[in-house]
Amino acid sequence: MKIKLINISHSFDLNINKKIEAVSNVSFQIDQNEFIGIIGPTGSGKTTLIEHLNCLLIPEKGSIEFEYLVQTKNRKTNQIEEQLKTRVIKKSWRKIKKINEIRKLVGIVFQFAEYQLFEETIEKDIIFGPINIGISKEEAKKIAKEVIVKVGLDESFLDRNPFELSGGQKRRVAIAGIIAMKPSILVFDEPTAGLDPQGAKEMLDLFETLSKDGTTIIIVSHNLDDILEYTKRTIFIKDGKIIKNDETLKILSDEEFLRENEMSVPKLISLTNKINQKYDTKIPYVKTIDELVNKIYEIKRSK
Ligand SMILES: Nc1ncnc2c1ncn2[C@@H]1O[C@H](COP(=O)(O)OP(=O)(O)OP(=O)(O)O)[C@@H](O)[C@H]1O
Ligand SMILES: [Mg+2]
Repeated sequence: MKIKLINISHSFDLNINKKIEAVSNVSFQIDQNEFIGIIGPTGSGKTTLIEHLNCLLIPEKGSIEFEYLVQTKNRKTNQIEEQLKTRVIKKSWRKIKKINEIRKLVGIVFQFAEYQLFEETIEKDIIFGPINIGISKEEAKKIAKEVIVKVGLDESFLDRNPFELSGGQKRRVAIAGIIAMKPSILVFDEPTAGLDPQGAKEMLDLFETLSKDGTTIIIVSHNLDDILEYTKRTIFIKDGKIIKNDETLKILSDEEFLRENEMSVPKLISLTNKINQKYDTKIPYVKTIDELVNKIYEIKRSK
């Protein structure tokens, strides 16, 4: 699936006389299997922006093009055929059926997704979404068994009550419920907020696995260390506008730009800068500690 946002804006009424443009004339494209980070100061419009990606919000101005494969039955041959469709969503759009098509393909996991759990067993919580989009109960139960393992829990959890789990486990169950719908794009709003470092790493590794399986992953996060390590492209939002849309390493290694915009510099970038200053070296910026160690080793060996 591809998504193209074309000059979209969205505002909220603060009171009768005052409006705030939370997303302002934003354009960008998301291609299949990208791994994107969305960053920016608090209140910059990140959550409002991603709510457009599965039509929870419809843009007030501009449009969004969704390009995806739709299965249709050929009336003559009775065969199922796949057709590439482009749906354009804009303010006048009211065809709910098409919106459901999009919602199946774009899963959003909101911040503290665990608050969205409501059934008395984990299995019921996971199969709720798939059944809602027309998958049989039997098939949905099979999917529940697959996805519970995928999120790092095991089948024995399925009969348990979700409210007995830890915060991190509950979040995994909520994510399992979204993965169970087999979306083409997964969007996470602050997925590691409130998790311990180990839990956060496991969560990010799960996204990497999903990405390797072909899913497009978009993460909104204030943790630039995570964004640096895991994402390939970064979109920087400020006051509802995109001010950077580029390779992650390029944006996050620009200390001056980050400081100007009141963002903290990723630890790995600060460390590289400090080593280079102190030892007068030219170690290039990298995305992981292992890569940094290798670069230092290479320099040491060449001397
Ligand atoms: N439902 C709403 N009604 C009125 N104003 C809203 C609503 N949702 C968001 N806003 C305003 O829109 C702006 C953007 O909010 P948004 O939640 O998109 O920011 P954010 O970048 O996700 O922030 P954070 O990093 O704190 O999550 C803020 O000024 C916020 O107060
Ligand atoms: Mg937000």
